[in-house]
Amino acid sequence: MPKHLTECYVRHMFPSNIEGWVRSVRPQKDNLFLHVNDGSSLQPLQVVASSHLNTRCYSLHLITSNDCEGAGELFQVEPAGHKNDSDDPNPHFFSVPAYLTVSGQLHLEVMAGAFSAVYTFGPTFRAENSQSRRHLAEFYMVEAEIAFTESLDDLMKVMEDLFKAATEHVLSSCAEDVELFHKYIAPGHRAIDILKSSSQNFTFSTEWGCDLQTEHEKFLVKHCGNVPVFVINYPYELKPFYARDNQDQPNHTAAAVDLLVPGVGELCGGSLREERLELLSQRLAQAGLEDTYAWYLQLREFGSVPHGGFGMGFERYLQCILGLHNIKDVIPFARFSHSCLL
Ligand code: 4AD
Ligand code: MG
Repeated sequence: MPKHLTECYVRHMFPSNIEGWVRSVRPQKDNLFLHVNDGSSLQPLQVVASSHLNTRCYSLHLITSNDCEGAGELFQVEPAGHKNDSDDPNPHFFSVPAYLTVSGQLHLEVMAGAFSAVYTFGPTFRAENSQSRRHLAEFYMVEAEIAFTESLDDLMKVMEDLFKAATEHVLSSCAEDVELFHKYIAPGHRAIDILKSSSQNFTFSTEWGCDLQTEHEKFLVKHCGNVPVFVINYPYELKPFYARDNQDQPNHTAAAVDLLVPGVGELCGGSLREERLELLSQRLAQAGLEDTYAWYLQLREFGSVPHGGFGMGFERYLQCILGLHNIKDVIPFARFSHSCLL
């Protein structure tokens, strides 16, 4: 097998850009015969290249679980009746502490390394001690991960298309239900308010480096005329280890994006992912997480491509399009801190 592939994917200019992974290489005297696959079909594309093009192989990795957002808002999983016995050399059911997932992102990043564009729609769990009208302990999230993505514009396009396509479908297939909400819950929900400026005194600081609070998100949306708003390039230190470093100054930012919507605030959160091995290992080393995320670093070592993704909270999405004030009204069995009735 030829060595030293500088890029594990091929960008071929005819008939248009082809982005995928080299599955096999057959070297012959003058030419290399490469089978390229982007995960959309079992049939590979055969590329004939000059034998000067050298290559290195890569691998796929198994799925595991972890604290993706790094915020420690985890529910630990052990069998009912489990007792913490300090004398037991192997006290955990899975031999290591296991948690209900806060996000499918890290698993999606693995799959995006084979199928290019992937998504999940599943329950996620966060031990956030909040009874606010926009927080649940268990919520559903649509998450997408897209390989060969180098700009937040590409991500924002997918977020916008997802929002529009889902809403068009809801409006056309469930018109009567939506009408009911517009009549009794949120009259005028569809009308766009004229720009309002506010001389509001915020409770939380709006200094650079402070995270956006709900009051700020709401103000931004209002300021833009109560339409959905993208906020991009957040302070680097505020974002999880996986967010791509913009390497800018004086304000050091990460390529992260939130979609804020009227009435709810943050609906989607996403970012370009740090695909550069050096930068990622430095950041993980600083956080003392190099060993925990050795497998994640290996994704960058073997076959990494620029990629990014986002998550959209499904209950917040319903809250937004139905104009409901409280998230607990869009889910039949709302679970939140100090409340888990059934
Ligand atoms: O912004 P978050 O924390 O992003 C992630 O989990 C990324 N790993 C997603 C990714 O890039 N694949 O969460 C994504 C969305 C938020 O924008 C919000 O809509 C929703 O999940 N969400 C909640 N919804 C209800 N209750 C909570 N406690 C929520 N926390 C997040
Ligand atoms: Mg977020």
